[in-house]
Amino acid sequence: MTLDVPPTLAVDPLLDDPKTRIIVCCGAGGVGKTTTAAALGLRAAERGRKVVVLTIDPARRLAQSMGIDSLDNTPRRVKEIEGDGELHAMMLDMKRTFDEIVEAHADAERARAILENPFYQSLSAGFAGTQEYMAMEKLGQLRARDEWDLIIVDTPPSRSALDFLDAPSRLGSFLDGKFIRVLMAPAKVGGRAGMKFLNVGMSMMTGTLGKLLGGPFLKDVQTFVAAMDTMFGGFRTRADATYRLLQAPGTAFLVVAAPERDALREAAYFVERLAADRMPLAGLVLNRVHGSGAARLSAERALAAAEALGAPDGPDPAGPDGPVENHETGGIVDQEGGKEEVRTPPEPHDSPETPATELTAGLLRLHAERMRLLSREQRTRDRFTALHPEVAVAEVAALPGDVHDLAGLRDIGDRLASGGRPV
Ligand SMILES: Nc1ncnc2c1ncn2[C@@H]1O[C@H](COP(=O)(O)OP(=O)(O)OP(=O)(O)O)[C@@H](O)[C@H]1O
Ligand SMILES: [Mg+2]
Repeated sequence: MTLDVPPTLAVDPLLDDPKTRIIVCCGAGGVGKTTTAAALGLRAAERGRKVVVLTIDPARRLAQSMGIDSLDNTPRRVKEIEGDGELHAMMLDMKRTFDEIVEAHADAERARAILENPFYQSLSAGFAGTQEYMAMEKLGQLRARDEWDLIIVDTPPSRSALDFLDAPSRLGSFLDGKFIRVLMAPAKVGGRAGMKFLNVGMSMMTGTLGKLLGGPFLKDVQTFVAAMDTMFGGFRTRADATYRLLQAPGTAFLVVAAPERDALREAAYFVERLAADRMPLAGLVLNRVHGSGAARLSAERALAAAEALGAPDGPDPAGPDGPVENHETGGIVDQEGGKEEVRTPPEPHDSPETPATELTAGLLRLHAERMRLLSREQRTRDRFTALHPEVAVAEVAALPGDVHDLAGLRDIGDRLASGGRPV
């Protein structure tokens, strides 16, 4: 049963509104955040705005097509944009961003001591939450420059969309907080009392920092902390400032999700969290939705027809666990407009001797699998809409190949703007 139809996300009015200054694309890993961010950036630029897109770990080919395949941590103007607007794109260099903060907040000698410190090096190269923290930091920097009408932010490939909101303050507290001061204590206080603090500190460090434990490590941490002394307070404050930026009018969050149970459950949590934090949600992008050009033929009727043809079952083209999408040798592949094309599996199905009825029965079974996938996706979406009927939705079809050039991004942009109606 189909429940209420959610409101359609009006993408173009959002992109065109001069009051929209930041769009953040969030979602669980692999759902299409980077693709959505780049497609929205391109569309906004081609509709006349001056846009910068901050991408995180874009696929190589996509980065190349935007001219940002070298990691230099500054926005580059993208060529071949149609219209009067501008698109600038950059790829976040987490370590470089961290280094820049150190350089900006410490004198040259102290900055060098920090940058050369092994503890700093391991922290900046990928401590849990560093990427999220640095993405927010970069967003703050871009906003402060006030050079762009619109900043579109991609978020790191976290397991959970919530990490983007949680990790920066966690890391900020870690860098600024009591914990690291406790580690400092022996360096400052010395003596037995200092050692006691130190032991508390050390025992807290099992777990995340466990890998790094050891005598030289401790010394590195102490030197690091001593060198960072001037920056205490800074990290937490900056994370808090960016957090406030995310609550400001002019910021819009888009939650990207695939029409699958886990991704949509994650999206629902995220929607609730944004509301709790008073962060403005623009809507949900439902990416990689499957369609069928023959949706009026139900799975049951297709299967019944296949049986009526009396053809032997043959190997299930969809495999035991449901359909295999974009399979190289057979299966169903989405085409323009969400229509499906059936690629006939190889031997024995497509040999010249294969009777037409057997082939037809095979196609009917493939169609039945596709229709089952469609209704699974619909049920998952209905569940989300029942929980959050107010959330506007734009659907993007699953395309046959990945999205790796400006033409592909334009296509995604068109689909986003049409909200899921055929383009
Ligand atoms: N609608 C679509 N149809 C077909 N392929 C798509 C679609 N959207 C995204 N893709 C492809 O899916 C892959 C993952 O997309 P993308 O990199 O945007 O996801 P992500 O959410 O940024 O992933 P991560 O969490 O790893 O950063 C890419 O190869 C992309 O080209
Ligand atoms: Mg990504």
